[in-house]
Amino acid sequence: MRSGSSLTDIILNTEDIGVTYQETIIALKSVSLDIPAGKLTAILGPSGCGKTTLLKVIAGLIEPTTGAVKVRGEKIVGPGPDRALVFQDFALLPWATVMENVAFGLRARGVPKKERKETSLHYIKEVGLLGFEDKYPHQLSGGMRQRTGLARALTINSDILLMDEPFSAVDEQMRRKLQEDLLKLLKIKSKTVIFVTHSIEEAVYLADQVVILSGRPGSIAEIVCPEIDRHGEIDLIRRQPRYIELVDEIWSSLKRYVE
Ligand SMILES: Nc1ncnc2c1ncn2[C@@H]1O[C@H](COP(=O)(O)OP(=O)(O)OP(=O)(O)O)[C@@H](O)[C@H]1O
Ligand SMILES: [Mg+2]
Repeated sequence: MRSGSSLTDIILNTEDIGVTYQETIIALKSVSLDIPAGKLTAILGPSGCGKTTLLKVIAGLIEPTTGAVKVRGEKIVGPGPDRALVFQDFALLPWATVMENVAFGLRARGVPKKERKETSLHYIKEVGLLGFEDKYPHQLSGGMRQRTGLARALTINSDILLMDEPFSAVDEQMRRKLQEDLLKLLKIKSKTVIFVTHSIEEAVYLADQVVILSGRPGSIAEIVCPEIDRHGEIDLIRRQPRYIELVDEIWSSLKRYVE
């Protein structure tokens, strides 16, 4: 197993995380992982191997049965403004507008109304939803709902973004667009992203570090650093020999865990 620690500063690390549900279902076992600051770490693994569980532990929503999560060396004790979560299934409030959904996290933190509106509008614009502030989730396409979820996470302005299969519920074209947008956004803003996905292609396209989890109970099987050149045209990333090679390599590692 290769360590990811060669990738600059470590902003977050998990130490020996284990999660057992209802005293019998072992979801995760001994997960020790270093997350480099300002980089995107993708987590890949078969369905049910504990990816969402791991993200929830990092978000502070689930207390692990063993081990600890540390942000800049400090043990976390619950959710915090340093970590924002984008859920697998959008998790938008159906009765609230785009503006209200985006402002939700700020409201929960007691930010005054005027500032809430200004900040939300800034991020609504940034994700390309200007003009849709007053629409409700059912009036939006899947991609637009996903952008609303992303804007809501961005308003919290946390250094660490936790994304659970954020693009899985949209079609292939929208998915590619959202992936490109995320890369562009990360070029402008330095964020640490932990990105759970089922797609090997998505992981190699986006990530600086790819963590492969084994089947249940999930534990780290392998860590790969793609070292893809993302300086030029992002359209060309998928044509790089290194990209094609890695997709095959990761599939060879992963397929033994897929039943
Ligand atoms: N609240 C819970 N109570 C009991 N078991 C749970 C709970 N949440 C998850 N599990 C079990 O823990 C294991 C890991 O679940 P988890 O949702 O973390 O997997 P995952 O890798 O995110 O799966 P997927 O790829 O399908 O989203 C699964 O076997 C699941 O059934
Ligand atoms: Mg999941």
